[in-house]
Amino acid sequence: MVERSRSSQLSGPLVPRTAFPLLMARDIAYLDSAASAQKPKVVLDRMRQFYETSYANIHRAVYPLSEAATEVYESARTRVARFLKAPSSESIVFTQNATEAINLIAHSFGGPRLKQGDRILVTMLEHHANIVPWQLLRDRLGLELLVAPIDGAGNLDLEAMDRQLAQGPKLVAVTAASNALGTRTPIKDVVAGAHRVGAAVMVDAAQAAPHGGIDAIDWDCDFLVFTGHKLYGPDGIGVLYGKPELLASMPPWQGGGDMIRTVSFAHTEFADPPQRFEAGTPPIGPAVGLATAIDFIEAVGWDRVEAHDKALTGYALERLQDIPGIRLIGAPQERIGIVSFTLDGVHPHDVGSLLGERGVCVRTGHHCAQPLMDHLGLPGTIRASFGVHNDAADIDRLADALVAARQILAR
Ligand code: ALA
Repeated sequence: MVERSRSSQLSGPLVPRTAFPLLMARDIAYLDSAASAQKPKVVLDRMRQFYETSYANIHRAVYPLSEAATEVYESARTRVARFLKAPSSESIVFTQNATEAINLIAHSFGGPRLKQGDRILVTMLEHHANIVPWQLLRDRLGLELLVAPIDGAGNLDLEAMDRQLAQGPKLVAVTAASNALGTRTPIKDVVAGAHRVGAAVMVDAAQAAPHGGIDAIDWDCDFLVFTGHKLYGPDGIGVLYGKPELLASMPPWQGGGDMIRTVSFAHTEFADPPQRFEAGTPPIGPAVGLATAIDFIEAVGWDRVEAHDKALTGYALERLQDIPGIRLIGAPQERIGIVSFTLDGVHPHDVGSLLGERGVCVRTGHHCAQPLMDHLGLPGTIRASFGVHNDAADIDRLADALVAARQILAR
């Protein structure tokens, strides 16, 4: 009965499956949006239309087709700025993905400013993308990497973090939401605490972005990154937001065409941001797709997205709790639409394969968060992550497939 009452709070998907061509073509329960979201038809149509009717390289030529394509690309930048509530489009740099954006910050912000003995503070919740670039910098410059711990429920331990902040890190690199446990971190408080000790803050919003509540200005973070493909947009595009005065003070990341003002063999003058950080032909079509994806998800409405996440997560937790042998991993105070769990005595990949055979798509393993898994003493977890297309039937299918997998694996 409890299940039924919970499930009835889910009045179906927030956006019908018909909006997603792949979901119409395949009989699957797609519960892996945290890895990558399926693409709405409206995004695919817009990209196709752009490539078929309006495509040319940008910023280079003066013929009308190229000038119009430049305008479309730059208006995508403006659209992203509006999404982040950033003051101007000059603070938006297009990259290949969120990982590249973090590497850019490590190279162009961290590299010139940090020196031997300086500290960078990350957290136990980070994805490898927000660990490895800082380790590379640490090893190059002789820095120290501090790691803020979590409590038993998977929340950041803010008191311990305060003690680490008192050690005066120069940079804090923190996720807004954990890809492995779903924990939403109290970003505004973390930024304020870091700023009190003079640290700059970079927020990894790759997971938080599709679930709402992103506000670079209210958070007052110095940098923020996210990726297009998790936000119902195409792959091949990521975003770096940086405070304009910081971007203006940073040297380029890669050299090449379109990031310069003048070049001679003796000397090169670099362009202002954001061009300074976009060497070579940028992801033009993907930028168009990303702008359309932002229109798509904002038209759904963030309040509705958050309510849907909550209903799906609540229902999933109830269904999973009823299955013998399932152990839920993490019980964070605030979470995005992610549920992580294990099945006693079985490797997550074995479960994942059996679920896959039944058309249930989940990610299994360490989720590119190996230090977190080590801390939890697990080889990995099974992770169900939700998007606007999911409904109670997807979760029922997951639960039924888990029961069947358990029986097969117990034989
Ligand atoms: N970072 C992506 C995930 O969590 C790929 O699955």
